[in-house]
Amino acid sequence: MKDKIVLITGATGGIGKAAAMELAKKQFTVIIHGRNKAKTQQVCEEIRMITGNSKVDYLVADLFLIAETKQLIREFKEKYERLDVLINNAGGLMSNERENTAEGIEKTIAVNLFAPFLLMNGLSNLLKASPEARIINVSSNSHKLNAKPDFTDLQLVNGYNPLRSYGNSKLFLIWISQYLAKELKEQGIGHVTVNTLHPGAVATGFGTNSNLGPFMNTLAKWMRPFFRTPEKGADTIVYLATSEEAQKVSGKYFVNRKQARVTEKYYTTANEKLVWDYCEKEVSKVE
Ligand SMILES: NC(=O)c1ccc[n+]([C@@H]2O[C@H](COP(=O)([O-])OP(=O)(O)OC[C@H]3O[C@@H](n4cnc5c(N)ncnc54)[C@H](OP(=O)(O)O)[C@@H]3O)[C@@H](O)[C@H]2O)c1
Repeated sequence: MKDKIVLITGATGGIGKAAAMELAKKQFTVIIHGRNKAKTQQVCEEIRMITGNSKVDYLVADLFLIAETKQLIREFKEKYERLDVLINNAGGLMSNERENTAEGIEKTIAVNLFAPFLLMNGLSNLLKASPEARIINVSSNSHKLNAKPDFTDLQLVNGYNPLRSYGNSKLFLIWISQYLAKELKEQGIGHVTVNTLHPGAVATGFGTNSNLGPFMNTLAKWMRPFFRTPEKGADTIVYLATSEEAQKVSGKYFVNRKQARVTEKYYTTANEKLVWDYCEKEVSKVE
């Protein structure tokens, strides 16, 4: 697959950087995203140097913020007329203390759900302009282990804990991806696919700054040596971005390159639509 343009969020480290490196090796035009300009610029240079691919560029935005995510979309549109692969990878597990962004949104939901929602929708015309476009959303097995949504309180003003919010956000990310896949199919847009994945337990920066309390902090530290490398964690992303068979599939969830089951607990088409509509309403409140 040559001359393909990929945008990958959260590519300054961990799984995102490993995926960006691999796609640059495969001669994609790679636009990496980060939130820290100096760090993002440095990773961009590093990928160019290691891969010998000069078609690596970067964009900067804090994806906690709707306004900055919208600005990122505008900047991307100014530079590129088409997008072949959108990889919503940036995300994270927050801390025991519930925190809101400057825009008043719980941080886990802001970065893990609203940012991918905005990017999928804001860049949809550029994706449709590609002969074969793929949206790849990095979810997590945590959607099975930790999700416990309250449909009257999606940002967990009450009953917040970091793993619950994280699990909810990754479950909702799967739902909005499935929803969009169905919408695209109904509109007869077969050349844009949307899939999600779990990368495995990967030794990255993930969770290292999340204060989960003494027990969970110790457990996470103890488990870390058993985790996979970022390169192995990026494998299913690269597979979904490049393989011919993956282009034929949409609305599915993948683990280790294979389709896997999504938990049916909490799922109804009405709940899925409720989450989609909620995202739409919340992101429209900020310019
Ligand atoms: N590691 C695992 O075991 C695991 C398991 C399941 C799912 N995942 C998912 O995999 C994805 C990648 O995580 P990772 O393991 O590679 O973690 P990571 O090493 O912490 O990387 C996360 C990336 O996202 C960026 N990011 C985080 N918050 C951001 C924000 N508000 N605005 C812009 N960028 C932001 C980070 O930027 P900075 O460099 O500036 O921090 C970094 O580039 C995440 O969606 C995560 O939920 C990871």
